[in-house]
Amino acid sequence: MTEQTERKKRVFSAVQPSGGVTLGNYLGALKNWVKMQDEFDCIYALADLHTITVRQEPAKMRSNILDAYALFLACGVNPEKSPFFIQSHVNTHAQLAWILNCYTQFGELSRMTQFKDKSQKHADNVNAGLFTYPALMAADILLYQADMVPVGADQRQHLEITRDVAQRFNGIYGNVFKIPEAYVPKTAARVMSLQDPQNKMSKSDTNINGCVYILDPPETIIKKFKRAVTDSDACVRYADGKDGINNLMGIYSSITGKSFADIESEFAGKGYGDFKQAVGEAVAEELRPIQQRYKEIRDDKQYLEACYKRSAEFAQSISQRTLDKAMKKIGFILK
Ligand code: TRP
Repeated sequence: MTEQTERKKRVFSAVQPSGGVTLGNYLGALKNWVKMQDEFDCIYALADLHTITVRQEPAKMRSNILDAYALFLACGVNPEKSPFFIQSHVNTHAQLAWILNCYTQFGELSRMTQFKDKSQKHADNVNAGLFTYPALMAADILLYQADMVPVGADQRQHLEITRDVAQRFNGIYGNVFKIPEAYVPKTAARVMSLQDPQNKMSKSDTNINGCVYILDPPETIIKKFKRAVTDSDACVRYADGKDGINNLMGIYSSITGKSFADIESEFAGKGYGDFKQAVGEAVAEELRPIQQRYKEIRDDKQYLEACYKRSAEFAQSISQRTLDKAMKKIGFILK
């Protein structure tokens, strides 16, 4: 086999470090980040530059970044294998974002549904960054010549615009950027609110029992599952119209690896109470070692710093090559 065919595909992904990490984030994205490390050449980032499109409280922002960084390590993101850096530490991101802004049209940014939603939600702060955010996300991805980007439904449109902008740029200057594909993991769980199972589990859920956090104590987790909304069918089976039970089955399956059929027979003749207890316990058990590890590393400033600094150096050197190439093609004089 030649070196070329042996080369693993490169994956790039990032998340915003904006407050508690939920069970939805964990099962929907984070677990896949950890898994993909074995199969692909992964580069991961905390997208801190993205968070300031919405006003942040400085002290809270600092702790959010370090909390998220430590938590991701605790979940199994391994910076020895997959560089995991903090976006603002690598200056090529803001630089390429500016450039890509000039190759992204007002009209296409105006069609972004997330911009429309967020500008309604934060009507007092509809800033230019909120509007041009997809250009920064495109820079994140294109700098690393990523083959694939794992994205949930809410980021699909941003990946599309990334591809459009990259194609437009390449059309003018030749092959500068790799055109990334969306990667939809086989087992991506879409975790719904425990209180309102027609909607995604979210930090902004009005009912605190709807959302489970990775760092919730085991008793809290079990309590939240006990209170989960179900239906009056009283039978653990996956079916249309049973959103609450379907969601619990999805969570249980994703944690235990059991199929829906297995779960149905495991709980045949048992009530929802037993099932909810079992799901709560399974989640609490899965998270227990993560919480333990998190406690060990969150205060180990030296260790965290070593991890993010080394990762940033690596990311800087890879991304600088792409930035230089793009700048040269445009007509800038490299220093
Ligand atoms: N915008 C993404 C989010 O809010 C985070 C993000 C930033 C991202 N840059 C990225 C995701 C690049 C994938 C690739 O969830």
